[in-house]
Amino acid sequence: MTSKQNNLKILFSTSEAHPLIKTGGLADVAGALPAALLNLGCDVRVVLPAYGDILKKQPSMEAVAEMYLPGVPGMVTLYATCLGDSPVEVLLVDHPSAFAREGNPYLDGDGEVWPDNAERFALFSKVVQRIALDQAQLDWKPDVVHCNDWQTALVPALLRQQPLAPPSLFTIHNLAYQGLFPQSTFNALSLPAALWSPDALEFHGQLSFIKGGLVFADCINTVSAQYANEIQTPEMGYGLEGLLQFRKNVLSGIVNGIDDSVWNPKTDALICQNYTSRTLSKKKANKTALQKRYKLPVEEDVFMLGFIGRLVEQKGIDLIIEFLKTIENQAMQFCLLGSGDKKFEAALLRLAGENPKQLGVTIGYDEVIAHQIEAGVDAFLMPSRFEPCGLNQLYSLRYGTIPIVHNVGGLADTVIDVTDESIANSTATGFVFDQPTVTSLGEAINRAQKRYRKPRTWHKLVRNGMNMDYSWHKSAQEYLKLYQFLQQEREAQKSIQTIKLLKE
Ligand code: ADP
Ligand code: GLC
Repeated sequence: MTSKQNNLKILFSTSEAHPLIKTGGLADVAGALPAALLNLGCDVRVVLPAYGDILKKQPSMEAVAEMYLPGVPGMVTLYATCLGDSPVEVLLVDHPSAFAREGNPYLDGDGEVWPDNAERFALFSKVVQRIALDQAQLDWKPDVVHCNDWQTALVPALLRQQPLAPPSLFTIHNLAYQGLFPQSTFNALSLPAALWSPDALEFHGQLSFIKGGLVFADCINTVSAQYANEIQTPEMGYGLEGLLQFRKNVLSGIVNGIDDSVWNPKTDALICQNYTSRTLSKKKANKTALQKRYKLPVEEDVFMLGFIGRLVEQKGIDLIIEFLKTIENQAMQFCLLGSGDKKFEAALLRLAGENPKQLGVTIGYDEVIAHQIEAGVDAFLMPSRFEPCGLNQLYSLRYGTIPIVHNVGGLADTVIDVTDESIANSTATGFVFDQPTVTSLGEAINRAQKRYRKPRTWHKLVRNGMNMDYSWHKSAQEYLKLYQFLQQEREAQKSIQTIKLLKE
């Protein structure tokens, strides 16, 4: 089938999507994959809660439907808008008491989870179910419903209760976040009683949203092949490994891609100097600008490391903090952008205060600085304890910034370790280490620094990485194959049912 020949209707349900609302990589995926699917000919619509921050940015929108849900006070309105500059249509689910709050979609101003998150995302999932069943006055019924992470995981469970529902795909972006709530919450959500069972949403006496996707979706995928294997082990399965092994025939891994319209050093308007693998010497200007921004001594040859991300244990930020205590008097600088756990924020600020000539720390969320770090530093640290895919190592590769990564999940699948052999055959793209310890991280940084002192080899690595193809086009084709498989299975089921009815 050539790329434009399919006309599958896909409802893509997500709790965040760049550029409308973003806390992490899910938003990057939901902001880019639908556009890549549109390019393959799919009729794709994204459905997203109408958070306060989105409404503020999009004051004039067309209301396309209104509905009441049983047990939910007040009306739900659907608005139609677009995903930034792309023509992908977005449906925003507006229920002001649930979603019209500013800031992070999941956390209050003190960083605590909103106490009514279960109610908010159950409401959202019920609306997605309505749209999927063509019961939302849109005159549009998807062929496949694609759900992402626990916030939309009730959708496959709700759809399974309906005989004419379309099939669903559930993507696990991070199994560590499961949407666990007490049994009393299950009772309060007016969900079908049959869903309270260990074979459904019950998980050791608690309500587990993510089980809705893991048990009831027709297919499941995660965001790298390695992570798809890891979550079937007790070490990374959080007690769900048995269920995932049971479903392994419909579980696959599809690696994330890079949104070229956002992350491309040739065209990036947020960095001080554009460059390509052919004009690499221009990258230096970004290092100088970053050193100035972070008030670090402007030195061309110093080995500059960077980190961007959520300051949580998953990301191994504690290992970075331990490592930073040892760098005094080395020809090395480090700059960081992130927010999260208050104890990590405080430790990083303290270290930067003690060693301002080598360490620059920005606590917060800032897309401009994120681009400037990717373009400015020489190497990027990702010592994550687990990493379903990871996007920053992909952006680093694209920006000629060498990733230094722990050998897990998507990091293992996308970065090829530097060895004499991989240098010789031009496959080496970064430094991979095996243990999530400060010693192992330190050794990898040491290896990288030695190579950095040999500019010819270093530039070879940089070019290898910049020439890798991590475009969404490839991964979107993998998703398309899954959708087509689901649709064909559903058509086959329908035919069998028709034959049975005719025989009766
Ligand atoms: P995760 O989704 O687990 O947080 P990913 O590597 O998949 O990790 O994606 C994180 C995304 O969020 C990247 O686009 C990264 O640049 C961005 N990001 C994370 N923290 C910040 C921050 N403090 N400021 C700007 N962007 C950030
Ligand atoms: C999650 C994962 C990250 C992944 C992202 C997008 O937040 O932690 O590894 O890249 O989702 O799939």
